[in-house]
Amino acid sequence: MLLFSSKKELIGHLATLKNDATSVGLVPTMGALHKGHLSLVRKAISENEVVVVSIFVNPTQFDNKDDLKKYPVTLDSDLEYLKSISEELIIFAPEVTELYSNNISSKDYKFDGLDTTMEGKFRANHFLGVATVVEKLFLIVKPHKAYFGEKDFQQLLIIKKLVEKTKMPIEIIGCPIVREPNGLAMSSRNERLPKELRDKAAVIYETLLSAKHLFGMKSADKVMNWVKNKFDKQSEFDLEYINIAEQETLKPVKRKQQKTKYRAFIAVYANGVRLIDNLALN
Ligand code: PAJ
Repeated sequence: MLLFSSKKELIGHLATLKNDATSVGLVPTMGALHKGHLSLVRKAISENEVVVVSIFVNPTQFDNKDDLKKYPVTLDSDLEYLKSISEELIIFAPEVTELYSNNISSKDYKFDGLDTTMEGKFRANHFLGVATVVEKLFLIVKPHKAYFGEKDFQQLLIIKKLVEKTKMPIEIIGCPIVREPNGLAMSSRNERLPKELRDKAAVIYETLLSAKHLFGMKSADKVMNWVKNKFDKQSEFDLEYINIAEQETLKPVKRKQQKTKYRAFIAVYANGVRLIDNLALN
């Protein structure tokens, strides 16, 4: 396994490996790796000759500086974890200045409304920061395929839009959400939950499953109200949003159409920890 912190050295090394037929896969992460991340890495390994995993806590996507400070940095154990699945991986773990020089700011992008709802609404400029760093990584690694989790479904759509708008020849592969045995979507943030609350947080996925069932019979508004009422009664969880939207555009549901795909999205605070999840409804 090779570890690079310099983009120039990484680019130089990739040039020695690549020929026109070599398929390169990229898995961008912020580290503190868990089984969700590993599922992306495994898929990338199964589909590419060369796989680069980036580990970089990207400052421009944090609207809350405290959240950035609290973000776990566990590079040594991440490297061990990655090594246990393949010795062939290439890891890119740069310092902030290596990617941003002295200009730690986001570029401006137009994402056709994908970035103004949900995570975009509640976390100012979050997606501009995500797109800025992902575009930088794409330009350095020049992958054929890049892997993103459906856990961050809105982010996945934004990256697809980024590639479409910038005309980068990269295939974006969405990977299913990996869950804990109780249904809680795996996340680096789950570590910050006391054990009892982590068990109780199963209610988030259970609620999404019930919403899916109800959506077969009731309007999106009725289902969203049902979820809000349910969380009003949960003293340990604060619902930030529940949203049922068209899966591809994230537009609100006007009238359910047979052929349109819909998805429910949820964000909940538990003991100051922000948890998100989503589920396809049809
Ligand atoms: P991070 O939160 O580390 O996640 C890295 C990738 O792992 C993302 O594509 C995310 O959707 C995926 N992922 C996380 N938990 C998952 C789970 N339980 N199941 C499946 N996939 C999961 O997302 C980011 O980092 C950053 O925004 C990044 C894209 C790296 C840009 O900085």
